[in-house]
Amino acid sequence: MQDPSNLKRLAEDSTTSAWTEYANFAVIVLSDPRYRFHSIDAGRAAQDMQIAAWNFGVISCVFTGIKEEDLRKDFNIPSEMNPSIVVGFGYPVRKIVGRKNRKPLDELVYLERYGSSFARGMVSKTTQSDRARRAAQGLLD
Ligand SMILES: Cc1cc2nc3c(=O)[nH]c(=O)nc-3n(C[C@H](O)[C@H](O)[C@H](O)COP(=O)(O)O)c2cc1C
Repeated sequence: MQDPSNLKRLAEDSTTSAWTEYANFAVIVLSDPRYRFHSIDAGRAAQDMQIAAWNFGVISCVFTGIKEEDLRKDFNIPSEMNPSIVVGFGYPVRKIVGRKNRKPLDELVYLERYGSSFARGMVSKTTQSDRARRAAQGLLD
């Protein structure tokens, strides 16, 4: 939706995200609970939209905190569909600088088996493939 009155309604139907009122547009991602992995479908759809938007300089944020009854009524959502996640989009009002303080990848991703350091493993894998490449080029003795 992009109509300001609907964006206002959407903000009122959220328990957490009043900012949605000021988004340029927003999407309520519905998924079909008859499919076991419907939440994954919704997440994939939302993230694809966010990444595509980012390519055009459009920022976004998601929320799941909704007043479900109100949302269903206001936007005519059929009972068989599940409002899984909402994505609000807009142009940034100020320049985005710096990086977010993300958890290091090494704390989230393991190599080969749980608990095995990803970073250290990747360094040695890179070294191996580098050696293989150089060997193929006859650069190693
Ligand atoms: C599945 C999911 C549900 C979320 N639900 C809410 C929510 O209900 N309210 C809210 O304020 N933010 C919600 N967020 C937004 C997170 O706060 C947001 O992802 C966080 O600010 C980090 O954003 P970034 O990863 O784009 O930097 C949700 C995020 C995810 C992934």
